[in-house]
Amino acid sequence: MLKIENLNQYYNQSHTLKDINLVCKKGRCTCVMGRNGVGKTTLTKVIMGLLKVQSGKIVFGSKDITKLPPSARASTAIGYVPQGREIFSSLTVKENLQIGILGNRNKIKKVPQIIYKLFPVLKEMHDRKGGDLSGGQQQQLAIARALCLEPEFLILDEPSEGIQPNIVQQIGDVIDYLTKEKQITVLLVEQKLPFARRHGDDFYILDRGSIAASGEMKDLSDKIIKQYLSV
Ligand SMILES: Nc1ncnc2c1ncn2[C@@H]1O[C@H](COP(=O)(O)OP(=O)(O)O)[C@@H](O)[C@H]1O
Ligand SMILES: [Mg+2]
Repeated sequence: MLKIENLNQYYNQSHTLKDINLVCKKGRCTCVMGRNGVGKTTLTKVIMGLLKVQSGKIVFGSKDITKLPPSARASTAIGYVPQGREIFSSLTVKENLQIGILGNRNKIKKVPQIIYKLFPVLKEMHDRKGGDLSGGQQQQLAIARALCLEPEFLILDEPSEGIQPNIVQQIGDVIDYLTKEKQITVLLVEQKLPFARRHGDDFYILDRGSIAASGEMKDLSDKIIKQYLSV
């Protein structure tokens, strides 16, 4: 579904992503894990085309998207929920979702009902300003807005960060629904090990810009966790 080959990225002189090779398989949740500052968010921005790469290739389906602008990636069915959510706080929930619909590649005009089924709170809060929602509700709104694109591939950058446990669980249920029921491919950046274990199928561990380990989630060993994830 998504394949990254020998990818290198720099911020000025600083070599941030080093020779990354990564595959996200269709209908599976691939977790990118690693401590703060190792390059996880940078990797998501590179996939979205928000940062340029120095070398390497990003292939989505059968299409080389390495040089496509960000807007073209949304129309190729990649949805993105950035770290820290970035919803429009002065717009209502409804308006935030309508902005998502504007990017819909199937040209639908209305928010699909499934989105309110997945996030019932957004129906209740429809006319409230985004900024009036709790952190967890904002995260749900950000995910819902990305789903308005009807993506085949969804990137979630630390969706559970700073969010109350019951909402984290709902977000986990949505990830399971998308991958298992809808065969949507998810790339989940996650630092919380239990959440990653519960919802991830495959893992990649980043350490100072390089892939230090990868495999199926069930094979993520205590040794790897101790070496690369515990603080
Ligand atoms: N816009 C930027 N310019 C320069 N350096 C950056 C920028 N954004 C992030 N970095 C640096 O790149 C490294 C990786 O950051 P990031 O991808 O945000 O890590 P993570 O998401 O794993 O915490 C860090 O050392 C960070 O300080
Ligand atoms: Mg980050």
